[in-house]
Amino acid sequence: MQANLRESWQIGPVEIPSRLVLAPMAGVSVQAFRRQGRRFGAGLVCSEMVSCAGLHHQNERTLGYLRIASDERPLAVQIFGSEPALMAEAAEMVERAGADLVDINFGCPVRKVTKTGAGATLLDDPERACRIVDAVATAVDLPVTVKMRRGLENGSRTCLDVGPRLVDAGAQSLTLHPRSAKQMYTGSADHSLTAELVDLVDVPIVASGDIVSRARAEAVLGATGASAVMVGRAAQGNPWAIAEILGPNGRAPSRDEVAAELILFIRETVRELGERRASSFLKKFYGWYLGHGRFPRPFKQELVQLATTDEVVTRLLVAAPGAAEILERLEAETPTGDQVTLELPISIYGGG
Ligand SMILES: Cc1cc2nc3c(=O)[nH]c(=O)nc-3n(C[C@H](O)[C@H](O)[C@H](O)COP(=O)(O)O)c2cc1C
Repeated sequence: MQANLRESWQIGPVEIPSRLVLAPMAGVSVQAFRRQGRRFGAGLVCSEMVSCAGLHHQNERTLGYLRIASDERPLAVQIFGSEPALMAEAAEMVERAGADLVDINFGCPVRKVTKTGAGATLLDDPERACRIVDAVATAVDLPVTVKMRRGLENGSRTCLDVGPRLVDAGAQSLTLHPRSAKQMYTGSADHSLTAELVDLVDVPIVASGDIVSRARAEAVLGATGASAVMVGRAAQGNPWAIAEILGPNGRAPSRDEVAAELILFIRETVRELGERRASSFLKKFYGWYLGHGRFPRPFKQELVQLATTDEVVTRLLVAAPGAAEILERLEAETPTGDQVTLELPISIYGGG
């Protein structure tokens, strides 16, 4: 059966307007990225992983990850940690901040995270993983979801053992990135495991890994019976990939469109992170946006070396003069962050 990517589906009571989910990506999934993803048709967007310890300690930067805009919803905020009680407390903060879903990270392969007993290591401690899901699901009214890898070691099938147990513990959807933690991002995602997982549980499954085109998305949905695909690296600096995957009329953007989207992204990110943090954060995005043969290579080098984001914007407008008009239209259609950002409840700041 041909899957229609533009169909809506549900996780618990949360209606998700398309079958494309924008992946959580640390160092990428800022609010500007998520809002842009929604604008291009992603049905659900996700925050990057947020440390439950950071939330517990009221770390200011960590609390910043809970700043949610009304026009990025439905939104999942992803949390990571290894202590059920701290995870439950973090989930309550996520709920108060206005997220639609709480997602739990059992997939991060990075040593800094796994050595604390969090992320993908929890796949080897299913009893604790279930206690975390149970504690979080008990603490909040929001649906709780889990994102996981196939297991720790290459060839592992652990996800097929742990997945159903997580559902029994209260997970209302599972996202599977069927690479091992050891693989990091090498090799390829084995979606035959996704198909097996779909057969084992009664909750929607999201297929993550190597979804780079409409043909691939349709093939994976068709072969696995997953409810949705998740798109990560293909959407970095390339929201047009989202429209292409959703179809039917995706097309390559003009240079002016690329420059206009990048400028809007820069401005929103500066608003979100401040000029100092944003200017280093944004450098990787210049390559992502300007690649794909859209601009000559030395142009990216030139942008990366500029001292301020204002200079980058000026340079982009010189290189792509038609961007100004497109940008004006985009900015008129996109309310500024302050108009749509949900107020963080005072309790999130510990009453301070
Ligand atoms: C830079 C980067 C950061 C990521 N950060 C997270 C994260 O915070 N939480 C998570 O669950 N997955 C994270 N992932 C994994 C992605 O969500 C996704 O599962 C993976 O990249 C495979 O999908 P893709 O082939 O579409 O990129 C990250 C991936 C990348 C490339």
